[in-house]
Amino acid sequence: MTSHSEIDTLRIKARHAELAESLLPSGPLKHFVDGEWITGRGDDTFQSIDPTTGESLVGVYEGTKEEVNRAVDAAWEAYEQRWSETTPAERQQLLLTMADRLEARAEDFALIEVLDNGKPITEAREDIELAVDHFRYFAGAARNIEGKTVPHKELHIQTRREPYGVVGQVVPWNFPLLLATWKLAPALAAGNTVVLKPAEQTPISLLTYMREIADVLPDGVVNVVTGFGPETGAPLVSHERVPKVAFTGSTEVGQGVMKAAANTISDITLELGGKSPLIVAPDADPAEAADIAVDAMFFNGGECCSAGTRLFIHESIADEFVDAFLDAVGKLQMGDPLEESTDIGPQVSRAEVEKTLHYIGLARDSDASILRGGGTVEEGILAEGCFVEPTVIADVGADSTVATQEIFGPVEIMLEWDGYDEMVARANNVDYGLAAGVVTDDLSFAHRIAEDIMAGNIWVNTFNRLPAGQPFGGYKQSGIGREGAMETLREYTQTKSITMNLGDGQ
Ligand code: NAI
Ligand code: MG
Repeated sequence: MTSHSEIDTLRIKARHAELAESLLPSGPLKHFVDGEWITGRGDDTFQSIDPTTGESLVGVYEGTKEEVNRAVDAAWEAYEQRWSETTPAERQQLLLTMADRLEARAEDFALIEVLDNGKPITEAREDIELAVDHFRYFAGAARNIEGKTVPHKELHIQTRREPYGVVGQVVPWNFPLLLATWKLAPALAAGNTVVLKPAEQTPISLLTYMREIADVLPDGVVNVVTGFGPETGAPLVSHERVPKVAFTGSTEVGQGVMKAAANTISDITLELGGKSPLIVAPDADPAEAADIAVDAMFFNGGECCSAGTRLFIHESIADEFVDAFLDAVGKLQMGDPLEESTDIGPQVSRAEVEKTLHYIGLARDSDASILRGGGTVEEGILAEGCFVEPTVIADVGADSTVATQEIFGPVEIMLEWDGYDEMVARANNVDYGLAAGVVTDDLSFAHRIAEDIMAGNIWVNTFNRLPAGQPFGGYKQSGIGREGAMETLREYTQTKSITMNLGDGQ
């Protein structure tokens, strides 16, 4: 006899397979170089996996140095022949069209992200909506690249912001199309051409999007080469004709990108990991604080660089807060990310599941208390896919590995605090500095936290909010540079000073 959960598993698998069949082109998916779909020299392909079912979705060509070189050549040619001649108005128009094309098929793109990444459909829709808005934001920004004049008695000193030419971009798998947009939109607005490598776990949405915009994009302006980090990413970020590199991913790979950039003195933008604190003040309403904390931690299944992974709860409300928090965590629905009611889908890959379980194991081996979750679920689709239970861990030392290193899965570390200065010192005592949050109605407390925490983004009574226009990036080992905002244009341009003699010809 087939059990209920077996029937459910079969139903979910059939639903995913059907959707993949109707939405995805048949593979293997090719690289997009110079306006054409190419296989390159190598015939090697890899499979992009649906982490909910463990089934493969489509094959994708594995890029090598050769395809990267072709893409960089195409990008330079496009830059020199066409793109560097475009006006800001033309680039604005193109970016607006790119936004419209994405918006017109928003639901399809959201569904593709669900299939390829495993994120819940409700969150995937937010990704696409934000991506559309980022294209529109940078369409406007394209008209705002300005230089200045510098007062001088005998000289006329003028500055221009000029593009680098070709930009190399490498993006991760947690927000596949959104993070590609964060990089593409400002690079194009500033007048660069691009070679971009999506993550090997989630290449489908970007490749599908390139099909959607191929007829509006001049050849060679955006080139996409798919493949793995060492084989495809490394030749791109170390390419001698790529004077600007933008990378989002692990701190370890980010360090390699930085070293590679040293060889050619390339400019870099790095958006790396985090271990962000969320501070619950003594005046916070426990139920409201619990909702914010759940969202801070479990949004995108914890696969979020800014996730609020360290909860600092004031001792005076700890009991009430912990009850409310565990209650809210208990209500999170884990399951098929295509369901509207699902809060937590699978992690992106088996490797990420193993990494998360490894950290939970470290906590288990110490004196930590696992208050919720703590592993995988051996039942139905939850056993077949890459699912990890929402996990809450208490009684760990502030210096322990689980409390200081990025886990990147649904694992919250609970810490209590009493004295302000000591709490701030503990909150700052990690290598990362991407984000932080505070829940309080006390305005001066919020301001003090905002000043005292060393992080690029501080959220007050909210978390993980990243609208276009809000600069995003890290302090310390969380990165270099800011994305998503006007100042991002500075990351994609360089200053040229033009100095003219106004005097007697000297
Ligand atoms: P990763 O840093 O290896 O991958 C990110 C991107 O970099 C992918 O496109 C990958 O192909 C590329 N890449 C890998 N090695 C490269 C190299 N040598 N040169 C150029 N590009 C390279 O991250 P991975 O292995 O997927 O995830 C491991 C951990 O990294 C996660 O558990 C998480 O802690 C962290 N991570 C952080 C992200 C963030 O948003 N800051 C995003 C993804 C991962
Ligand atoms: Mg995938």
